[in-house]
Amino acid sequence: MPKTLLEVRDLHTYFLTKEGTVKAVNGVSFTLEEDSVLGLVGESGSGKTVTALSILQLVPFPGKIVEGSITYNGQNLLDMSTERLRALRGQEISLIFQDSGAALNPVIPIGRQVEEIMLEHTDMGKRQARATAEDLLKQMGIPDSRRMLDQYPFQLSGGMAQRVMMAIGVALNPRVLIADEPTSNLDVTLQAEMLQRLRRLRQENHSAIMLITHDLGVIAQMAERVVVMYGGTVVEQATTRDLFARPYHPYTWGLFQALPRLDAPQRSLTPLRGAPPQMMDPPDQCPFLHRCSKATAECRTSPRPPLDEVAENHWVACYNTINYN
Ligand SMILES: Nc1ncnc2c1ncn2[C@@H]1O[C@H](COP(=O)(O)OP(=O)(O)OP(=O)(O)O)[C@@H](O)[C@H]1O
Ligand SMILES: [Mg+2]
Repeated sequence: MPKTLLEVRDLHTYFLTKEGTVKAVNGVSFTLEEDSVLGLVGESGSGKTVTALSILQLVPFPGKIVEGSITYNGQNLLDMSTERLRALRGQEISLIFQDSGAALNPVIPIGRQVEEIMLEHTDMGKRQARATAEDLLKQMGIPDSRRMLDQYPFQLSGGMAQRVMMAIGVALNPRVLIADEPTSNLDVTLQAEMLQRLRRLRQENHSAIMLITHDLGVIAQMAERVVVMYGGTVVEQATTRDLFARPYHPYTWGLFQALPRLDAPQRSLTPLRGAPPQMMDPPDQCPFLHRCSKATAECRTSPRPPLDEVAENHWVACYNTINYN
């Protein structure tokens, strides 16, 4: 059995605003095993980033983890002291932020920001940290990485900032890496290089990687399991192979319908119709109800469906799943 490195259980992260409670993450559970990649997918606003930020307790005000546990190597991160958590961050668990531009400090040169992680967590001296920083940037395919060390974040393109964030994220070979849309601003060649760097981290360090992306092609290449989120909840979870072959939740099924396919290139994309789910003070109901073509009277009158195992290791939260018989 592979070792579980991180376990998120029944996580609820809410934004307590004057207008109401935004239930951005509303009862999410999953585990990350060593030497594996877990994909996290779902439409914009479904709670992927807030889930990622919750793990390292970086949810911005007025966000708050109101319930649940997050266990790393048997220790609950939610009970941990600030100092202990700071020591873990970057070294054992690291996060590549979705918004790399905002994650970098605008008034500090890139080099110092990359060096800082080595200076804080290792006994490297200043010179060695600088050489390592240069090397890390080079590994990310950044041309003229020595000159880059002296540049400020505003001088970087989005794709360049993303590669700097990736360099910081993998610098200390973390045991757990959470990568939030790490390749969304990159062209195909660079994307392939970044994904290769993630594979290397996994191979050399047996790391657990949580890969958040809109790109199902990236998921297919990288992940062995997938969690599908909708409206702050997990609606489906399975191995990548099973999920792609037999998506049981009508939402997941729709995701695959929207994909262009090699065998039917003329088929037009079908974006999801209807309004996104209510995140503020949501009713206790299936969040997908109002957009679902398969909704029944039971769906309308029942509480939120629980995540049930419908096939071996394939979990779905739905009263009326896609039927493959
Ligand atoms: N600071 C905030 N205040 C209030 N609500 C917020 C705040 N940040 C996020 N939210 C809400 O939390 C929900 C989840 O947002 P999140 O950023 O996790 O979505 P996501 O799945 O990462 O989307 P994307 O694919 O666009 O990155 C959204 O409804 C969003 O409006
Ligand atoms: Mg996000």
